[in-house]
Amino acid sequence: MTEQKDIQMLKQKLLNNGVLDVLIDNPYEGIVVVDKQGYIRLINNTYLEMLGLNIEDAMGKHIADVTSHTKLPQVIESGRTILYDFWEVNGRKFIVLRIPIINDDGEIIGAIGKSLYADMTSGKLLAKKLRQLEKELEFYKAEFKKFHKAKYTFDNIIGESEKIKEIKKLACQIASSISTVLITGESGTGKELVAQAIHNASFRADKPFVRVNCAAVPENLLESELFGYDEGAFTGAKKGGKPGKFELAQGSTIFLDEIGEMPLTMQSKLLTILQERELERLGSIGSLDLDVRVIAATNRDLEKMIKDGTFRQDLYYRLNVINFKMPSLRERLDDIPLLISYLTKKLNKKLNCNVHGFTEDAVQLLMKYHWPGNVRELENSLERVFVFANEKLITPEQFPMLLKIVDVSPALYEPKTLTEAVSQTEINMITSVLKQVNGNRRKAARILDLHPSVLYRKIKKYNIK
Ligand SMILES: Nc1ncnc2c1ncn2[C@@H]1O[C@H](COP(=O)(O)OP(=O)(O)OP(=O)(O)O)[C@@H](O)[C@H]1O
Ligand SMILES: [Mg+2]
Repeated sequence: MTEQKDIQMLKQKLLNNGVLDVLIDNPYEGIVVVDKQGYIRLINNTYLEMLGLNIEDAMGKHIADVTSHTKLPQVIESGRTILYDFWEVNGRKFIVLRIPIINDDGEIIGAIGKSLYADMTSGKLLAKKLRQLEKELEFYKAEFKKFHKAKYTFDNIIGESEKIKEIKKLACQIASSISTVLITGESGTGKELVAQAIHNASFRADKPFVRVNCAAVPENLLESELFGYDEGAFTGAKKGGKPGKFELAQGSTIFLDEIGEMPLTMQSKLLTILQERELERLGSIGSLDLDVRVIAATNRDLEKMIKDGTFRQDLYYRLNVINFKMPSLRERLDDIPLLISYLTKKLNKKLNCNVHGFTEDAVQLLMKYHWPGNVRELENSLERVFVFANEKLITPEQFPMLLKIVDVSPALYEPKTLTEAVSQTEINMITSVLKQVNGNRRKAARILDLHPSVLYRKIKKYNIK
C-alpha cells in the first residue's frame, strides 16, 4: 500500500516539475496516444514531423486516417504489446513499439505508439547489429532443423497387414490437417515413426519436428522446457530468457512423447494452452498465438490412468481428436518376412555388412516368437546377429536365445489382456494336440472338438507349424 502511495507521489512530483513534458516532447522519439476507439488524443512534434503533418491534421482524427499501416487498433483489440516493428514512412525507416493502455480495472482504454529513427547513426548501427543477429539466427535455425529433422516417411512404415494399411491410410489423410493426434501402443511398435511420417507428409515438413520426452525431463524443469521463460522470471533464469519447445515448434509440429508420464500439474497447464491456443513464457507480459500441431504418444493405458486419477480426462479428450492404436508385432506376425527384408537392407547399410537373407527356418523361428519389445526388439535382435554374421544367409542357430525361448515358450510369455490370454491358451492347446497326432489336422480338430476349417483358420492365424 505504502509502496503504491510512494509511486503516486513520485509521479505527481514528476508532473509538477515538467518531467513528463520532456519525456513526451523529445526530439528523438515520435509519440502518439489514441483512445479506445482509435482517435488521436496526444501526438508530439517529432511524430508530426515524421508524418509531415500539422497538429490540426492529426489531433482528434482516427489513427487509420492519419497513417494507413497503423497497428494500434490491433493492440486495442487484443490488449497485446507489439514490440520492435520496422516502419517506413516518407522514405525513412523507424523502429516502432506499440503498447496498450490498461486502467486499474483491467479495461483497455487506449494505446501508445512510439517510433524511433532507425536511420540515424545509432539506428544504423542497431540495424547492422540486427542484420548480423538475423544471419546468426538463420544459421542456428538451419542447424536446429538439421538436429530436429524427422527422418521417417510413410515409406518407412513397413507392413501389409490390414491394421498397418489402415494406419497408413488414415495418417496420409490427416497429415495436412492441424488436428491433434494421439498415438498409443506398446513400446517399440512405431509410434514415433508414425508421428514423424505425419509431420513429413504435412505442409510443415520443411520446419523442425520438435520432440519432447515428457518422461525424461525432471518435473520441476518441464514447465520452462515446454513454455520457456523471460529474463528475470525467477532467480537463476538465463539472461535473455529461453524459448520453450512450443515456441520452437511455432508453425510446425511438437511431438509430446510419453505423455502418460506427465505430472498432473503440467497436464493442467498443457490443457490451458491447447484450449486457449495462446503461448506465454513464464514471467512474460506478451503472448503469442499458438500455431503448433500437437502429436502425443504413450504406451500407457490412459483410460485406466483416468480411472486411477493420474491422467486428466479433459486433457485426454483434447489430445484424442485423432487416434492411432499401433498394433503389437505379435498381432501381425505375417508382416515379419517383409520387416526382415527391410531391416536387412537398413542394417547392412548401417553396419556396413553384406547379409543376403534368412533361411526359411530362420524366418519361421522369428515368426514364432512373441516379441514383447515389438519391432524395436526385432531390429535389435537382427543387429546383434548381423554384427557377428560371417555367412551370407542367416540360420536359426544364430538366434540361440530365441531357439531356447520359443522351445519352452509359450509359458515364458505373459499375456497382458484377456484376448491375449485366450490366444495364448489356444496356441498352447493346438500345438500340443498337433504334436500328439503327428500333425494330422483332422484328428486334432476332432480331439479339440472344432470344425476342421476353424482349426485351419486358427493354425494360420497363429502361424502354428
Ligand atoms: N512398421 C514399421 N516398419 C519399419 N520399422 C518400424 C516399424 N515400426 C517400428 N519400426 C522401427 O522400430 C523402432 C522403434 O520404433 P519407434 O521408436 O517409433 O517405437 P515407439 O512406439 O515410439 O516405442 P517406445 O514406446 O518404446 O518409444 C524404430 O527403429 C523404428 O524405425
Ligand atoms: Mg517412442
